[in-house]
Amino acid sequence: MMNFLRKRAARPSHGAFAVVTGAGSGIGRSFALELTRRGGTVLCVDINLEAARETVRLIEAMGGRAAAMTCDVGSAEAVKALSEQAEGLLAHPVTLLINNAGVGLGGKFEDVSLDDWQWCMNVNLWGVIHGCHYFVPGFQRAGGGAIINVASAASYTAAPEMSAYNVTKAGVRALSETLYAELKKDNIRVNVLCPTLVPTNIIKNGRIPGRYSGLADHALMNYAMTTSDEVAALTLDRLDRGELYTTPQIDAKLFWLMKRASPNLYADFLGFSYRFLK
Ligand SMILES: NC(=O)c1ccc[n+]([C@@H]2O[C@H](COP(=O)([O-])OP(=O)(O)OC[C@H]3O[C@@H](n4cnc5c(N)ncnc54)[C@H](O)[C@@H]3O)[C@@H](O)[C@H]2O)c1
Repeated sequence: MMNFLRKRAARPSHGAFAVVTGAGSGIGRSFALELTRRGGTVLCVDINLEAARETVRLIEAMGGRAAAMTCDVGSAEAVKALSEQAEGLLAHPVTLLINNAGVGLGGKFEDVSLDDWQWCMNVNLWGVIHGCHYFVPGFQRAGGGAIINVASAASYTAAPEMSAYNVTKAGVRALSETLYAELKKDNIRVNVLCPTLVPTNIIKNGRIPGRYSGLADHALMNYAMTTSDEVAALTLDRLDRGELYTTPQIDAKLFWLMKRASPNLYADFLGFSYRFLK
């Protein structure tokens, strides 16, 4: 069994026994379908069970194997239960965990309630912490495994009117960077996905306190440069190559380079543009 798992770790996205959270929509559904194309078996997890079941139906129509489970990743008890039931539902130990479930929260800092902060922190940050906390010991016992944490380019762009979302995604990136180093000795790969705009239901499902013009949804659906299917495939390729970061679009790479090259200038540029655009 140990050798079998080590061999699989050479290309963890192929023939994976995967748990994908937020698999009922958008990027999570794309991960589930791409893993199926790569011969995997997928446990599709979502707070919306019907949406997860729909992904399972799509997988079965492709001739793949999948199961659905409901779970609120913001609840430690629910993720603990997921980690205990996943092996039975997949009929195999889990080899890949994709902590993808997430929610959008926009609005000016002073307009965002603490309840909304907590909701966003629970799903986006605690959801990923819970996933890593309950699945890493199993990977260590098995002699290896792989984790993809879905952060965002928001983890470093610090765009105005997205304070809570930015904080959660910066946390996911920091956690992933730490685990990448810490878990190398255990043969556990970690990749963190940091995309800019991807056309999904994130804004429709999210919260934007105050008046909302619909501009963000329009931009997401009309100006995004990459589909969720392309993002999922690219991320799985990066994981297979053992790389830590996936910044799938050119603007994601550009912001990363600008911020690294001159952090103070970047912050001033953001502040200036925000005042100008207001
Ligand atoms: N769409 C983008 O432009 C974009 C950009 C960067 C990062 N992301 C990240 O990608 C990930 C997937 O988002 P998406 O764009 O596909 O959005 P989406 O709204 O289309 O899908 C998110 C899925 O997560 C599920 N979900 C929400 N809360 C949950 C919870 N508490 N427990 C379990 N499942 C839950 C939803 O039901 C939904 O099926 C998120 O982490 C998001 O922050 C998205």
